[in-house]
Amino acid sequence: MSVRLNANYLSSFVSAEELTNIQPQVTLAHDLLTSRAGAGNDFLGWTTLPVDYDKEEFARIKAAAAKIQKSCDIFIAIGIGGSYLGARAVIEFVKSPLYNNTKKDTPDIYYAGNNISAFAIDELLKICEGKDICINVISKSGTTTEPAVAFRVFRALLEQKYGVEGARERIFVTTDKARGTLKHFSDEAGYETFVVPDDVGGRFSVLTAVGLLPIAVAGIDIDGLMQGAAAAMEAYKNPDLNANDCYKYAAIRNILYRKGKTTEILVGYEPYQTMLNEWWKQLYGESEGKDQRGIFPASVIFSTDLHSLGQYIQDGNRNLFETVIAIEESPVIYPIPNDPANIDGLNFLSGMDLNLVKKTAMQATLLAHVDGGVPNMLIELHDKSAYSLGYLIYFFELACAISGYILGVNPFNQPGVEAYKKNMFALLGKPGYEDMRAELEARLG
Ligand code: PA5
Repeated sequence: MSVRLNANYLSSFVSAEELTNIQPQVTLAHDLLTSRAGAGNDFLGWTTLPVDYDKEEFARIKAAAAKIQKSCDIFIAIGIGGSYLGARAVIEFVKSPLYNNTKKDTPDIYYAGNNISAFAIDELLKICEGKDICINVISKSGTTTEPAVAFRVFRALLEQKYGVEGARERIFVTTDKARGTLKHFSDEAGYETFVVPDDVGGRFSVLTAVGLLPIAVAGIDIDGLMQGAAAAMEAYKNPDLNANDCYKYAAIRNILYRKGKTTEILVGYEPYQTMLNEWWKQLYGESEGKDQRGIFPASVIFSTDLHSLGQYIQDGNRNLFETVIAIEESPVIYPIPNDPANIDGLNFLSGMDLNLVKKTAMQATLLAHVDGGVPNMLIELHDKSAYSLGYLIYFFELACAISGYILGVNPFNQPGVEAYKKNMFALLGKPGYEDMRAELEARLG
């Protein structure tokens, strides 16, 4: 098993009786999900995706990735939120956050359309100078402002550099199957398109073409990723909390939440986990944060953040709990060098594998935080392979759905993200928003 939940350090915060008591709610959540009778039931495509995916498209993804690898130095994934976080999380976790700086025979990968920054666009355009480029615009709606603006910029760059015909071979579009302006535009322009399935929301879409094409371009084993997810899908069919670590994680989160632990911190000890934390924050934040409810998802990378947020976690407001991802195997062993002068007094560590120091730091921190009143649980992950990560992705997605149903929200909608967009469009002068603009401008003075 690639993922195990270790709840041994929770005994002073969550009792066996509390777990027994929440079982009926877990079973109800399981029944709602599996019978497809719960809220948001038209967005459950992700539940069977690891086995029930479009095999013909999967083959096209691999072929497109091979073509991209041959024809460009730089590949730009244009998307925001659920349309980019999953791909970046997998690429940085399985490869490296320094992927672009490593020796490799795959293209450098950059991300655009995930911000509203003139500086970021300009910087990436400069990086592209003199390089061969391919782009993948990823947008289910096709009308999201940030990626739409970036697509305008990089499509124009490609057409200028390669001509309209040449650019056509370098533009890949992942969008809605039939509806939406981007699909029509792409078909007319002759771009190769991939599908964001109707029944899969953005934050649950990493195992569709949304994530898989950029991940395959990075040279990652997408078969392994899907196989890991499929193994998790098989492992978590029994709603009994004694037999299901995924549901147990969902249950414990809700027990802690009801005791005032309103912030969950996802903890990693490897910098390559940083973007996985960002993907997880969107998954849980957008799924559960609604109806004036929900655990606030935060994240840290230790030991880095022990030197910044460690004080707060140890000793600040006691509304926190931590979920630590402990990765058991490292592909690298690194013995600490000896220093004959021993100027730092650390020669007792000479020759010790840095992985052991990391593990010890984790154990020490765990005990200190538990003593400080912060409930801690561990998600033990076998290694950083595509297979194990696929397993973990499905674990988190399924736990999120179950947790959301226990909480009593629809985990698959995101009505709250529209509020700022309406204000922004009104203030920017979008036709049809005139009255709203006047009202907002009056409020802004
Ligand atoms: O999870 C979500 O639904 C969002 O994060 C969307 O993925 C994000 O807003 C991008 O939307 P779109 O793919 O339509 O451009």
